[in-house]
Amino acid sequence: MNIEEEILRLKEERQAIILAHNYQPAEVQDIADLTGDSLELSRAAATMDGNIIVFCGVDFMAETAAVISPDKIVLLPAKDACCPMAEMITADELNIVKSRYPEAAVVCYVNTTAEVKAVSDICCTSSNAVKVVNSVKEERVIFVPDRNLGLYVQRFTKKEILPWEGFCVVHDQITPAQVHKAQALHPGAVVLVHPECRPEVIDAADHIASTSGIIRHVCDSREKEFIIGTEIGILHRLNRECPSKKCYPLSEAAVCRNMKKTSLKKVRDALITLQPRITVPEKVAVSARKAIERMLAL
Ligand code: 13P
Ligand code: SF4
Repeated sequence: MNIEEEILRLKEERQAIILAHNYQPAEVQDIADLTGDSLELSRAAATMDGNIIVFCGVDFMAETAAVISPDKIVLLPAKDACCPMAEMITADELNIVKSRYPEAAVVCYVNTTAEVKAVSDICCTSSNAVKVVNSVKEERVIFVPDRNLGLYVQRFTKKEILPWEGFCVVHDQITPAQVHKAQALHPGAVVLVHPECRPEVIDAADHIASTSGIIRHVCDSREKEFIIGTEIGILHRLNRECPSKKCYPLSEAAVCRNMKKTSLKKVRDALITLQPRITVPEKVAVSARKAIERMLAL
């Protein structure tokens, strides 16, 4: 029996579901029940049957699943897979800013710890950030922790956004010069970038979308060639789901090291040992759940 067959057998025995983010290694995406963006994976974690969620992604994703499904066992096969951006803000730091702007709402990107979600009013992902910000009644919004996503949302709202100074170590590295170089190499190709990119990169692109939004755009478009400005793991789904389209990475260096820590062996071992398990103390989870559920209800 090869490792893929072993995982499938264990998955059935355990009544587990495997969720994988679009940036996961190709072989991990291939054994997952669902590969998607952060919002799709959060919704799946909230509604799925079964007792066990194997979350192939990074820690805040598994933590979010544990918060919304407290009765389920949530496993993060790569124990040390973290998101550096989520570590750029703590609940104590956010509380200081909140006390300075008591009239403002707090919108937190899903890329945050459960503690930060617990002191936020509502959560968002890259696919619904504009909708979430426009849904709050307050005219001022403290937006944490992604400065680039906050500035992107500012383009689509009359509310005043107060962005935190966090950033994604992968997307923040992408430059307009790389966009122009890729356009010179592939004239006429449509440029799609993630909203975690810098404003000047957003300005140079044709379309901005979440990871699954990028995949939908490529598959539905009549165009044939695309330059993809996000983590390169997304190319696996693009090649599988839209094989007739040509997709070129904007930057070969756009690799999230933490997303690549998952392996088939770690997934198999997690299903055998039911470890590493992610849990969130109920005291924190109860408030974090409100922020996540408020987003999921939109
Ligand atoms: P989405 O898949 O929601 O677009 O998120 C991108 C990301 O960087 C997740 O860490
Ligand atoms: Fe965090 Fe960026 Fe990696 Fe996503 S791609 S997990 S935001 S470092």
